[in-house]
This record gives sequence, C-alpha cells and structure tokens, in this order.
Amino acid sequence: MTQQAVTPERHAVVRLDGVSVLRGGLRILDGLSWQVREGEQWIILGQNGAGKTTLLEVLSTGIYPTTGTVEILGARRGHSDVFDIRPRIGLTSAALADRLPHPERVIDVVVTAAYGIVGRWRETYDPDDLARAHALLAQLGVAHLAARLFGTLSEGERKRVQIARALMPDPELLLLDEPAAGVDLGGREDLVGRLGRMVTGDWAPTSVMVTHHLEEIPAGYTHVLLLRAGRAFAAGPLADVLTPANLSQTFGVPLGVYRYGDRWGARLLS
Ligand SMILES: Nc1ncnc2c1ncn2[C@@H]1O[C@H](COP(=O)(O)OP(=O)(O)O)[C@@H](O)[C@H]1O
Ligand SMILES: [Mg+2]
Repeated sequence: MTQQAVTPERHAVVRLDGVSVLRGGLRILDGLSWQVREGEQWIILGQNGAGKTTLLEVLSTGIYPTTGTVEILGARRGHSDVFDIRPRIGLTSAALADRLPHPERVIDVVVTAAYGIVGRWRETYDPDDLARAHALLAQLGVAHLAARLFGTLSEGERKRVQIARALMPDPELLLLDEPAAGVDLGGREDLVGRLGRMVTGDWAPTSVMVTHHLEEIPAGYTHVLLLRAGRAFAAGPLADVLTPANLSQTFGVPLGVYRYGDRWGARLLS
C-alpha cells in the first residue's frame, strides 16, 4: 500500500507563476505570479479593464493562459483533467448569470448546480440536495423567492441566487466577480455581512472576490491583490496593502483610505 503524501497545513489553493493571457493581440494578464493559501480570503481591486474578470476565468479553469503555469487546488493545468477540479470551484459572474435560464424556478436554478448542469434535468431531486438548496437560499436572505421564476427577479435578488448556486456543490474555492454590483445600499450592507459570515468558520471555502469599492470588502476577508494593467501592483494582507499610495497608483488618482472598524472606504483627495 502506498502512503498518502502529508498535506502541508496551509497549502496553496491557487499558485500562478508568470501567467500571461493574450487576447486579440492585447496582453490582458502580464506575467502574473500570485499565491492564495488555504483559509485566506482575497479581494481583487483594479481599474476597469485591468484584467480582473480574465484572472477569475483563469482561476475557474475557463481559459488557459498563453504562458506561465497555473495550479488550482493542487492540480496543475495541462497535467490534470480540469473536469476533476471544476466541481470543487464555485463561480459567480455576469457572463455565467446570462446563461441561467429565465423561465426556471429559483430553487431549480440552485439545485441543478449539485449535478453540474444549467437547466432543469430531473423531475425529482434528492431530498438532501433540495434541503441544502433551500438552506443556501435562506443563508443569502432569499428563501421566500424559491418558487419564483428566475427571470422575474431584480438584479440584487439574482446576485444572491447566483451565490447560492455557486455554493451548492460545497466548493473549496469560491470566486465572486462583483457580487454587490447593482445592489441598493441596504441590500449591499446586508449582502456584505452575509458574504463575510460565509468565509469565516472552519469549513469556509477559500474565496477570491472582485470588487470596485472598498466599502464592499466584507469583514473576514484577509488579503488584497491590486491589479494594474494585468500585473500585480501589490499583494498581501489588507492592512499592509490598502494604503493611500498603493490605491492612488493603482487607480491613477489621489485617494484617501479610511477604516471603520472592520470595514473600509476610499475617497478622492482634493
Ligand atoms: N475576448 C477578448 N478579446 C479581446 N480583448 C478582450 C477579451 N476579453 C477581454 N478583453 C479585454 O481585456 C481587458 C481586460 O478585461 P477584463 O478582464 O474583463 O477586465 P476587468 O474585469 O478588470 O474590467 C479589457 O481591455 C477587455 O476589453
Ligand atoms: Mg470585470
């Protein structure tokens, strides 16, 4: 019998080394080297077009980099079957939301993720799966919408249902692309609180969340990557990296950074 390799206590969930992505002649990611360790919760900040969504596509195994090496959940891209690791990754993004069927009931949109499919498949589902889907909708504050048709929901409600769907297969890596975009102020505060609780606790997934606003960084997130023109401008613990100088250079305008307890904010310095 072969002995199983001992897993280091905090192994890398994501390991990128010199990753570049070229699209339409543009270098969208440019020699990016970055690591996410188990239990870390990362925020990605950067201007429009900096490559944030492209980076999440690489992490979700949706695209393959032009150069460099990508290791996700211990599997090296190009050496392992991506279908083995995809079910262990939860993703929400605008592109994925567009693929969700509007005439489908909300509960079906969530429960089908247990089977890795989009669109209703079975007449009946495993009662445990259905119970989990209902519990996740409750965790996101939208239990009352279970029987509604997905297409009839507001933007903010759809975002919550998408996150419940991403959590359905109990992913080890959760990727959120602007989860609070288009959500009203009260809704954002509620959602940010829920996102924070989702990533704390022993069984929480490791998460990478793209946002445009420091106000949307939930308590419980620990690290930040500042992306500028496809490069890592700075990366590390929030308190070390979210400095006025770093943010000003990342966004190209003079910015002040404010901390309110375990939440953050930024504004233009005049
Ligand atoms: N398929 C593509 N072909 C050409 N350019 C693309 C493609 N996808 C994205 N881009 C360009 O790559 C850059 C980065 O895009 P994206 O990763 O979506 O940025 P972000 O999410 O940070 O706003 C943008 O300039 C965008 O127009
Ligand atoms: Mg984007």
